[in-house]
Amino acid sequence: MSEADSLVTGNDVGGRIFRARKSGPLKGEVTPPGDKSISHRSVIFGALAEGTTKVDGLLEGEDVLRTIAAFRDMGVEVERHDKGRYTIHGVGLDGLAEPGNVLDMGNSGTGMRLLTGLLSSQPFYSVLTGDGSLRGRPMGRVVTPLRKMGARILGREGGKKAPLAINGTELVPIDYTSPVASAQVKTAILLAGLNTAGETSVLEPALSRDHTERMLKGFGAEVQRDGLRVTIDGWPDLTGQEILVPGDPSSAAFPMVAALLVPGSDVLLTNVGMNPTRIGLMEILLEMGGRIERLNEREVGGEPVADLRVRHSELKGIEVPVEVVPRAIDEFPVLFAAAAMADGETIVRGAEELRVKESDRISAMAVGLGSLGARIEEREDGAVITGQPEGLKGGGVVDSHTDHRIAMSHLVAGLCCKEPVEVLRCENIDTSFPEFHGIMTTLGAEIESGRVV
Ligand code: S3P
Repeated sequence: MSEADSLVTGNDVGGRIFRARKSGPLKGEVTPPGDKSISHRSVIFGALAEGTTKVDGLLEGEDVLRTIAAFRDMGVEVERHDKGRYTIHGVGLDGLAEPGNVLDMGNSGTGMRLLTGLLSSQPFYSVLTGDGSLRGRPMGRVVTPLRKMGARILGREGGKKAPLAINGTELVPIDYTSPVASAQVKTAILLAGLNTAGETSVLEPALSRDHTERMLKGFGAEVQRDGLRVTIDGWPDLTGQEILVPGDPSSAAFPMVAALLVPGSDVLLTNVGMNPTRIGLMEILLEMGGRIERLNEREVGGEPVADLRVRHSELKGIEVPVEVVPRAIDEFPVLFAAAAMADGETIVRGAEELRVKESDRISAMAVGLGSLGARIEEREDGAVITGQPEGLKGGGVVDSHTDHRIAMSHLVAGLCCKEPVEVLRCENIDTSFPEFHGIMTTLGAEIESGRVV
């Protein structure tokens, strides 16, 4: 049984219940787990390079384990030395073998979309599927541009939904104007362009996370940026690298918001990735009056990192600038929790992408926080939240919709509610932040890991 198989979850199964209750000051020092986006890419680019890639700090969340399992199924040797330390034995751009079975990407949109791009230009047949949540998410955003390159992909609803069946073939390069600022779309096309002769370009409406560009350059690819257009030259010589994965700012967001909200808190989050395309939440929280200090700023493996001292703060509602949305896209659920306890009104606009994440995150947060007493008005592309600095009444049972970030955001909110908050179907927290419970309780958060039903 592969590591991923032993951890199978999905939105169709059982449920782990967590309960959060009003907590005393959070104190101490913790290190968030490795960055999920960089971990996926370490495995993918490592597999496609010549020679070995050594990774330290790899996130052993289920999403990344699924990506590892997929490459093992395509003949790539991935060795685990100990926690987070891996060696990937690269097979080169033309060295992957046809997988003998369906590749199950679990809950991972990144795994599914990036592999759809990569496999489109591989000379073999492959099928990608995932859990109920992933099978419900839009795949047309990658299938449409890949078909423009000549890709042969079939899927439900004309290719809009997984499972996707890919008849890999030689592609032609394109210069694609993407309607969404999405690193997954950008990366899928660039991966298809890797073994396609000529220059493949993607122009985005706003800059999405740029780990692909940074890392591919590090592996030796010709990557050029011209404003919001990124271009890659086909058939680069990729050489194995040593990668030190920084801590995931998207996971750090949970203890960060918890420390801002719980009176008397003073915590240190160490080794947090500070890539400018990932720190939108921190910028928003600073604007809201959050006391977050960047200490010991340095560079780790080509990415900026820092330690963050976070102290309890009297947050104020703000109108979130639309331009920051792509840089905070995964952090809106926990921002909604912060806004629900800030002084005044927080307005979020231009965030309609939240509706097609692991769940419809606008609706899930509006219903969930609403049931805890928050004043939150759902909008098509965001929400208007009127904060209650005295804390929420709580006392409710919230459904996470099997979405890891919805689960963790309500548990953070629960730390400042008058009555305990129970969150259902929390098993997918393991997709991105398996250490969530341990890290939060180390800081003094009262979160009980409940029963599995
Ligand atoms: C990711 C890109 C983002 C993000 C996801 C990880 C990536 O999705 O939400 O958690 O690693 O490329 P989009 O690119 O669809 O916005």
